[in-house]
Amino acid sequence: MRVALIGADGQLGSDLLKVLKGFNLFPLYYPEFDVTDKEKMKQRLESLKPDTIINTSAFNDVDASEERIKEAFEVNAFALRDLSYISLELGTALMHFSSDYVFDGLKKSPYHESDKPNPVNVYGVSKLAGEYFLQNILEKYYIIRTSGLYGEAGCKGKGYNFVDLMVKKAGKNEDVKIVDDQYMTPTWSFELAERIRDLLDKGKYGLYHMSSEGECTWFQFAGKIFSLLGKRPHVAPVETKSYGARAQRPLYSVLENRALKGIGIRDFSHWEEALKKYMKEKKYI
Ligand SMILES: NC(=O)c1ccc[n+]([C@@H]2O[C@H](COP(=O)([O-])OP(=O)(O)OC[C@H]3O[C@@H](n4cnc5c(N)ncnc54)[C@H](OP(=O)(O)O)[C@@H]3O)[C@@H](O)[C@H]2O)c1
Repeated sequence: MRVALIGADGQLGSDLLKVLKGFNLFPLYYPEFDVTDKEKMKQRLESLKPDTIINTSAFNDVDASEERIKEAFEVNAFALRDLSYISLELGTALMHFSSDYVFDGLKKSPYHESDKPNPVNVYGVSKLAGEYFLQNILEKYYIIRTSGLYGEAGCKGKGYNFVDLMVKKAGKNEDVKIVDDQYMTPTWSFELAERIRDLLDKGKYGLYHMSSEGECTWFQFAGKIFSLLGKRPHVAPVETKSYGARAQRPLYSVLENRALKGIGIRDFSHWEEALKKYMKEKKYI
């Protein structure tokens, strides 16, 4: 299978590059390949003739999106309209990544694919708009919603990943304030990449939730990182209200991988297990 991989040096992109070795893979890098430049993007994809395009690109700074609305929509939404039409013309399948932030967090039990999205911030609205373009234009699409990604490359859009940041803070014995009322599921991008490979092998199009098993708050996530490190920095739990982030966030955005289990793809690890494996691989423990 010929696969064009957009954002191949991003956090998820670089793990996909490792995991999809058996495929005929064409990695594409920003800024040479820019999803906001429709004509150049079309020419390049026409020349590659992929069977599947995987788009990991995103404007994923949730707080910055509140002010840089146009940029967020250009990358997370309008580019997906262009990519969808290009895919339609080429007869190519399109895989795109979305977010747990398409939900408002009021449900308080894990969200599955048939739950109604209702984003509470610009980032979430832009990601949902991207999903709608794929669904409206294409039949051969995969939309993957994931949550709390961390991986070896670190999130390029945010400049760090949460685990590496906490390890750094623990090393400096800094005071840390972390929100303790937002529930989500941290997910290792390498495990996600492995399930993507399985899904490509199955070729079953559709909307999928893909995150680790279990749930925690960001404070609990940090606590687990510190306990694996055997360190006890000064960590204070704070409420979202008093944390002062620019963007509103859902207080509960745990995803249930219902559709994925329905097609027999193996479960993700519990988030604590995946975290331990990641920290061992990074030689933090
Ligand atoms: N990180 C999370 O916690 C999280 C949670 C839920 C969902 N997701 C979704 O999962 C996907 C992968 O996230 P990630 O953490 O791997 O992100 P990432 O590390 O920021 O990677 C994004 C990649 O896209 C590239 N890119 C940015 N603007 C581009 C453009 N205009 N044209 C082409 N490429 C561009 C980036 O290149 P440069 O770095 O050179 O700009 C980078 O290689 C995204 O769709 C994201 O919304 C992430």
